[in-house]
Amino acid sequence: MSSLQNREMGLCLLVCIICCSFIYVSSQSAVAGNDNSSVSEGTVFIDGKSSIGKIDEDFICATLDWWPPEKCDYGTCSWDRASLINLDLNNNILLNAIKAFSPLKIRLGGTLQDKVIYDTEDNKQPCVQFVKNTSEMFGFTQGCLPMYRWDELNAFFKKSGAEIIFGLNALAGRSITSDGSAVGAWNYTNAESFISYTVKKNYSIYGWELGNELSGSGVGTRVAAAQYASDTISLYNTVKKIYSSIEPKPLVIAPGGFFDANWFKEFVDKTGNSVNAITHHIYNLGPGVDTHLIEKILDPSYLDGEADTFNSLQSTIKSSATSAVAWVGESGGAYNSGRNLVTNAFVFSFWYLDQLGMASAYDTKTYCRQSLIGGNYGLLNTSTFVPNPDYYSALLWHRLMGRNVLSTSFSGTKKIRAYTHCAKQSKGITLLLINLDNSTTVEVTVTFNSTRRLHQKHKPHRSHKLHKPHRSHRSHKSHKSKVIQQPQRSTSGITREEYHLTAKDGDLHSQTMLLNGNILTVNSSGDIPSLEPLHVNSSKPIMVAPFSIVFVQMPYVLPACS
Ligand SMILES: *[C@@H]1O[C@H](CO)[C@@H](O)[C@H](O)[C@H]1NC(C)=O
Ligand SMILES: *[C@@H]1O[C@H](CO)[C@@H](O)[C@H](O)[C@H]1NC(C)=O
Ligand SMILES: *[C@@H]1O[C@H](CO)[C@@H](O)[C@H](O)[C@H]1NC(C)=O
Ligand SMILES: *[C@@H]1O[C@H](CO)[C@@H](O)[C@H](O)[C@H]1NC(C)=O
Ligand SMILES: *[C@@H]1O[C@H](CO)[C@@H](O)[C@H](O)[C@H]1NC(C)=O
Ligand SMILES: *[C@@H]1O[C@H](CO)[C@@H](O)[C@H](O)[C@H]1NC(C)=O
Ligand SMILES: *[C@@H]1O[C@H](CO)[C@@H](O)[C@H](O)[C@H]1NC(C)=O
Ligand SMILES: *[C@@H]1O[C@H](CO)[C@@H](O)[C@H](O)[C@H]1NC(C)=O
Ligand SMILES: *[C@@H]1O[C@H](CO)[C@@H](O)[C@H](O)[C@H]1NC(C)=O
Repeated sequence: MSSLQNREMGLCLLVCIICCSFIYVSSQSAVAGNDNSSVSEGTVFIDGKSSIGKIDEDFICATLDWWPPEKCDYGTCSWDRASLINLDLNNNILLNAIKAFSPLKIRLGGTLQDKVIYDTEDNKQPCVQFVKNTSEMFGFTQGCLPMYRWDELNAFFKKSGAEIIFGLNALAGRSITSDGSAVGAWNYTNAESFISYTVKKNYSIYGWELGNELSGSGVGTRVAAAQYASDTISLYNTVKKIYSSIEPKPLVIAPGGFFDANWFKEFVDKTGNSVNAITHHIYNLGPGVDTHLIEKILDPSYLDGEADTFNSLQSTIKSSATSAVAWVGESGGAYNSGRNLVTNAFVFSFWYLDQLGMASAYDTKTYCRQSLIGGNYGLLNTSTFVPNPDYYSALLWHRLMGRNVLSTSFSGTKKIRAYTHCAKQSKGITLLLINLDNSTTVEVTVTFNSTRRLHQKHKPHRSHKLHKPHRSHRSHKSHKSKVIQQPQRSTSGITREEYHLTAKDGDLHSQTMLLNGNILTVNSSGDIPSLEPLHVNSSKPIMVAPFSIVFVQMPYVLPACS
């Protein structure tokens, strides 16, 4: 080889090295915040011995509501054409957005469900739409679901592969007394013929839910727990009868209201095994008109506040003979349709993903977000159908967080929220880290707590195939408990997968989210983008940038996940 050739090669190599290090540096800065941010260290402790909860495979659920375009809050009307009655079922993004979950649970309901009649054969009233009238309960007159629309909806649900929970009108047959409570037994004649129609048409329904926000002190009106239990048993028997020769049978779900310890205890005890899922609603941030929503979302102790409800419902169910499980049947954070540029913006993913993590840790099986579309809290933009940041947060959760929930704690700044599940598509684990701090990058080390030796996967996720798996690792047994640390300076070739979510231009109000520094958006065909991870050397700590969210999939096999 001549010296000239040698020099050329050397130059080539140099250019190569510069290129590589440039790519390396830019990909690092995309995830590790700017130079301004300070850095703090912290440790995640994961108890890998056993799981503390088990979520449904299809834990993610979103709602479709009845609100007509005339529904307004504080002078703004945010529902447009997002009602079950008028939603554009031919929208390609809508179809793709639901399909991407295969399956997404969708709960159909909301305030006006208790004023809907179904236009089945038995119905003798005209089938007319809701009309705004402020002197009516909930601000609207009775509405009606025509069967041709129910047919259209079911054709769409089938095509999109959604699992449907239908919220039935639980006020039928009752009268409202002067103290505001609804009394008398549920008249299920119309509901029964609607369920029969649905079965006759072979439409697949995942669950029939009774009523909306009538538990405890109720919204608009309320129904006593004993009466509600007896009505739920009627629904259970009706479903059993109509589906007598059909499997699988849909779930019976109730009461779809705000948690009230005494009311729920009585309801759970009195329904026995005639209810499969106990649903409660969450709007813990207060009204959408509140100008301090973001301060609440960024306050760790405010977020922690909801744990009491999850804990109390879990104890209620555990201490009862019921075989029912807990669901969040509707949760939009801020009531009265949310708040534009908050509940449909990047900042809301802090609240939403924290809720998903917390709910799972208290053994909630399914979590329904208000809403899939409509109001200011849609996963999709109400007018363009383009996904908002929370849509991608939900999709990443759905793809990465497996059924078993692991006890997780974080030692370090209070601004880090940490949740761990067994991984969904591999034998490892997925860690979710949320950094509520505006200026500190947190360098996170992961520590496992397990009685058995920690195993790294022999054959990690297929995308690791270029890297040779490595079996040996260093274990530290310096503490009383058998704590096994992630290898710190090993020569291991193992990598982990990281998904860093940040707001475009660092703006918490942005409706555009970046994944590993790249904008997430549908393309001109309305296709949902693929969500690609960064591959990071496992010997490095996890860098969680200010105001960012990180999902980390790690190829460690823990006893609770094997
Ligand atoms: C660092 O912070 C200062 C003051 O907040 C700001 O002017 C500057 O642009 C920041 N630098 C970077 C690199 O973000
Ligand atoms: C609104 O409802 C009230 C009470 O149901 C009724 O008396 C009134 O006529 C309604 N107003 C309109 C404009 O329909
Ligand atoms: C129940 O409602 C139906 C209309 O759906 C009505 O025909 C029937 O009389 C009601 N039953 C009772 C007991 O009120
Ligand atoms: C009913 O629907 C199920 C799936 O939803 C399908 O497998 C079955 O063939 C259908 N039955 C009839 C009679 O159409
Ligand atoms: C929907 O998207 C459009 C275009 O980006 C935006 O102007 C509008 O504010 C969004 N609507 C809502 C309710 O977020
Ligand atoms: C970060 O948040 C603190 C309060 O938590 C506030 O005082 C400070 O001004 C914020 N810094 C920036 C750069 O926004
Ligand atoms: C390990 O697990 C035990 C029992 O679950 C728990 O008491 C202990 O605090 C855990 N230790 C760590 C470091 O997480
Ligand atoms: C991971 O980092 C270690 C230590 O810096 C290094 O020896 C090893 O080659 C790296 N592995 C990969 C796959 O880059
Ligand atoms: C849109 O994205 C999908 C999936 O990534 C891809 O298959 C399709 O070709 C893209 N369409 C256009 C027009 O870019």
